[in-house]
Amino acid sequence: MPEVVVRAGRPDDAASIARVHVRAWQAGYAGMLPDDVLAALDVDERRAAWEQRLRDTDEATVLVAERTGEIIGFVACGPSRDEDTAGDAEGEVYALYVDPDGWRHGVGRVLLAAAVERLAARWPVVRLWVLADNARGRRFYEAAGFVPDGSSRAYRRPGVTVDEVRYGHRAGIIRTNRP
Ligand SMILES: CC(C)(COP(=O)(O)OP(=O)(O)OC[C@H]1O[C@@H](n2cnc3c(N)ncnc32)[C@H](O)[C@@H]1OP(=O)(O)O)[C@@H](O)C(=O)NCCC(=O)NCCS
Repeated sequence: MPEVVVRAGRPDDAASIARVHVRAWQAGYAGMLPDDVLAALDVDERRAAWEQRLRDTDEATVLVAERTGEIIGFVACGPSRDEDTAGDAEGEVYALYVDPDGWRHGVGRVLLAAAVERLAARWPVVRLWVLADNARGRRFYEAAGFVPDGSSRAYRRPGVTVDEVRYGHRAGIIRTNRP
């Protein structure tokens, strides 16, 4: 399997990121979000949003994973957006998606490790939200040493209300390789 390279995302990556984003939602959230919501996801809409986000020079970071020059996954991270967390002492993994054709080859693990390393340089604690029914995602994060911190919330978008649970990790001790 060719090597995976992780690098900072650029505005001209927006179309590839949007494609991975939509494909990973459709494969990963089938049965968790309504079929019509997943079918209506639009790569062009996402591309525009990602382009804007990649142009913003705020504290958030997007990292992409490339294999043979093609983007196969990405992670977005930065300061925690939660109001109940300790001021500016916490970081958050906002989104982590790998193209379904590349699942289970360690790409997610490499991206998560890169995001946590970056967050750990600035924030001692890292948190993230995941759909409560997302068994694959929860297993993945738990394997990396994240644990549910007891918080939950409703994730809402038109036609959808589902539960999310929050995980926390002390960034300094993340495990990037499973025993
Ligand atoms: C969750 C997600 C990011 C994981 O990405 P991934 O690239 O498949 O992650 P990894 O390959 O590092 O790890 C996934 C599994 O593959 C296993 N694996 C990793 N490398 C492997 C290899 N070389 N051979 C066999 N299995 C391997 C891991 O041990 C892990 O096993 P598990 O499912 O039993 O826990 C991906 O499935 C995804 O995009 N899902 C949809 C969106 C989502 O749920 N995102 C997270 C919540 S926001």
